[in-house]
Amino acid sequence: MDIIRSVEVMQQAALGLRRTGRRIAFVPTMGCLHEGHLSLVKLARACSDQVVLSIFVNPIQFLPGEDFAAYPRPVEADERLCREAGVDFLFYPDTALMYSPDHSVFVEETCLSRGLCGATRPGHFRGVTTVVAKLFNVVLPDVAVFGQKDAQQLRVIRRMVRDLNMPVSILAGPIVREPDGLALSSRNRYLSPSERQDALCLRRALDTAESLVRAGQRSTVVLRQAMRDVIAGVPSAQVDYVECVDDETLEPVEWMERPVLAALAVRVGKTRLIDNTVLTS
Ligand code: PAJ
Repeated sequence: MDIIRSVEVMQQAALGLRRTGRRIAFVPTMGCLHEGHLSLVKLARACSDQVVLSIFVNPIQFLPGEDFAAYPRPVEADERLCREAGVDFLFYPDTALMYSPDHSVFVEETCLSRGLCGATRPGHFRGVTTVVAKLFNVVLPDVAVFGQKDAQQLRVIRRMVRDLNMPVSILAGPIVREPDGLALSSRNRYLSPSERQDALCLRRALDTAESLVRAGQRSTVVLRQAMRDVIAGVPSAQVDYVECVDDETLEPVEWMERPVLAALAVRVGKTRLIDNTVLTS
């Protein structure tokens, strides 16, 4: 596995691979790797000759007061996991190499990124689309793999690629969960043992919505309330949002006629967790 810190060296390596007809699959991450990330590497390996994984904790997608400085950076463990997973290139740039002090160009999706996490984390998706566009320009992937765990991010990236005619296919990986249902996340390590138990309310809320839909419920007012009730039963959990939106447009829907994305953001103690499921009638 090659470990590359320089933007130029990564871009030259990618150009070299493309010249020789190699197919590059790319998994962008912020590190603190877990089985969720590694499942994306597996998908990437299955559809390409060369897998590039980036680790970059992107300052511009964190809001003031968020956990940018505290975000876990277990460099050696990440490197080992990448080797074991069969990553060919680990791209690990410094912030100073990615952003000039006078950086002044941003990429902004203006529709899908307004609701859900975009409403409570204004500017977050502008940071995500900007860094992903930059990483695509450096890594030059044929395919890039993103997790359904960050459902809104995935849809925003797909829209960016479509609207800016980027020559890259976006592949989605399903949410990887702990055996008890908690979605894997780098932020789970912030949870105390009792919060770790309480965090199961996200999956329980989504399970409740899924069973109501299976039983014939189509009103999202009822679904949202049922999910809120589950979370309200856990004193350490505070709802950031509980939404049912059209899976494609991410617009709120009142009555399910097409697939609906049930999406939650909940603070358990100080840790903000997200989870989602696509409900189909
Ligand atoms: P990060 O949170 O590290 O996630 C990297 C990728 O792993 C994302 O595509 C995310 O959806 C996926 N992922 C995380 N947890 C997962 C799980 N439990 N199951 C399946 N996939 C999972 O998302 C980011 O980083 C950043 O915003 C980034 C795209 C790298 C831009 O900075």
